Amino acid sequence: MYEHDVLVVGAGGAGLRAAIAAHEEGADVAMVTKLHPVRSHTGAAEGGINAALHPEDSWELHAYDTMKGSDYLGDAPAIDTFAQDAPEEVIQLEHWGMPFSREDDGKVSQRPFGGLSHPRTTYAGAETGHHLLHTMYEQVVKRGIEVYDEWYVLDLAVTDEDDPSERECHGVVAYDIQTGEIEGFKGRKGTILATGGPGQVFDHTTNAVANTGDGPAMAYRAGVPLEDMEMIQFHPTTLPSTGVLISEGVRGEGGILYNAEKERLMFEHGYANNDGELASRDVVSRAELTEINAGRGIEDEYVHLDMRHLGEERIIDRLENILHLAEDFEGVDGLDEPMPVKPGQHYAMGGIEVDENGESCISGLYAAGECACVSLHGANRLGGNALPELLVFGARAGTDAAGADIGAPEIETGYEAKSEDGDLDSPVELGAVGGTDVAADGGAVTGAASTVEAAVERARERVDSLMDGDGVNHAEVRADIQETMTENVNVFRNEDGLKQALRDIRGAREHYQDVSVHDPSRTYNTDLIQTIETRNIIDLAEAITAGALAREEFRGAHWRQEYQYRDDENWIKHTMLAWNDGDPELYYKPVILEGAEKTYEPKERSY
Ligand code: FUM
Repeated sequence: MYEHDVLVVGAGGAGLRAAIAAHEEGADVAMVTKLHPVRSHTGAAEGGINAALHPEDSWELHAYDTMKGSDYLGDAPAIDTFAQDAPEEVIQLEHWGMPFSREDDGKVSQRPFGGLSHPRTTYAGAETGHHLLHTMYEQVVKRGIEVYDEWYVLDLAVTDEDDPSERECHGVVAYDIQTGEIEGFKGRKGTILATGGPGQVFDHTTNAVANTGDGPAMAYRAGVPLEDMEMIQFHPTTLPSTGVLISEGVRGEGGILYNAEKERLMFEHGYANNDGELASRDVVSRAELTEINAGRGIEDEYVHLDMRHLGEERIIDRLENILHLAEDFEGVDGLDEPMPVKPGQHYAMGGIEVDENGESCISGLYAAGECACVSLHGANRLGGNALPELLVFGARAGTDAAGADIGAPEIETGYEAKSEDGDLDSPVELGAVGGTDVAADGGAVTGAASTVEAAVERARERVDSLMDGDGVNHAEVRADIQETMTENVNVFRNEDGLKQALRDIRGAREHYQDVSVHDPSRTYNTDLIQTIETRNIIDLAEAITAGALAREEFRGAHWRQEYQYRDDENWIKHTMLAWNDGDPELYYKPVILEGAEKTYEPKERSY
């Protein structure tokens, strides 16, 4: 068994920032990650990092924009903390050597992004995430932080009290992808999940194949509720053939969206008469699909994003990466032609329920970055708010997990925060086939080491049983999920489609009962890893769809055909889903609109 003070699972932006913060507090930190840190999906982030740095800007304005963007489903303590801490995090990055794009006078450049009242998005060309990863990885190497890379975390080591909020997390069990060894990792002070988003639940996504929602699925099964899972962001500009992201930075620099009739659709059809292409993402994605559905799409599938008028010099200076992506994946030269774009799954606003210090209701278990829900983004994230989130809340989780006092959180977690029971008219049973699936069934196990050993034992048995047999290939099950989610749980949602998705997910879950791994090797067995990931995809697809069926209103990214209005009287509340040992329970908890300086009043959201 390996042993450290703080374990960080995942080595993208949130994981790296958490590890550095915990190390700064004197903790012995280790990162356990299925990818080498600089291969993490943060590297695909293009556009930038929002922070109120300019003297005419302020954290209050950033907080206001974020709350408005969230369509009043974000929690004010999270939003205020975020907007206050973001500038310091960006300055820290600059001091670590991040190669930000700059103005002629040497100041860090900031460009406009959707839904922002001030240009506050700092960036490094159109490959901001790549430079962010490298800058922070250098700090991890410099500090000698141990990185177990290509170790896939299979499960959490959590005690098995009946009440999840009495459980404790003592670490994880992981599979060494290179050797096939399964080992326990004890986290003496804390375990931080920073495993990224669940994009692979959908088949047209900007997310990497590694983004299978492992952290949220493990935490959910261990007893941590998932929050606001129905809130999925569809980015308006992805390449139609692959889902590869074309940064909002293109529109930030002045790029224009045209329909097949060469109309500037955002204005011509009144989708956002003030901000046009720079309305928030939910608005722009719906606008594009409305055009396509009305027969004004190109090849009935996409619209055009044109940046030619920006000129070669500016494009090369600020968006060069976009030229390569359009050329490599669509064969389009962005200097000479408009680029084809359509909405694609990009981000999960929901995730593992945590407080502002990153801690979940299970003692010692933290989460940060896209896998977590603080809740900062509510029903819609603003472009450029993901990278500062992973810096601010990665740092807070690392500091808190290492034992430093950063103050008591205002956001409550766990079942005690419940305000209301949920009511779901599901056409099928949810949860484990056969009714129960207890993650922490280690018998009467007590003590940290025994909890980890029991988790290792269970994981070994599970892997042996997956490798023993001649059953269904996981890829069939995964494809069924991705297909139904893309068809039925997309930008436009309705009751029939959501119910169909739940039926399909149930079918996939039953099918998964017969899954087995066909590659007998213990070395680089991607068949085994993907089979385990597929289970995580099933659990998250079900949580997303259940939340979407339950929420009978239209808020942010969640559009419902039957409910064409935001219902503040009944729905300013967070959707919570507790696994409940295999028998999921839906409930709600209040949204906190009282901030540090003011109470946010829900207003009509227009751009
Ligand atoms: O469009 C983009 O560059 C993506 C940025 C983001 O998701 O924050």
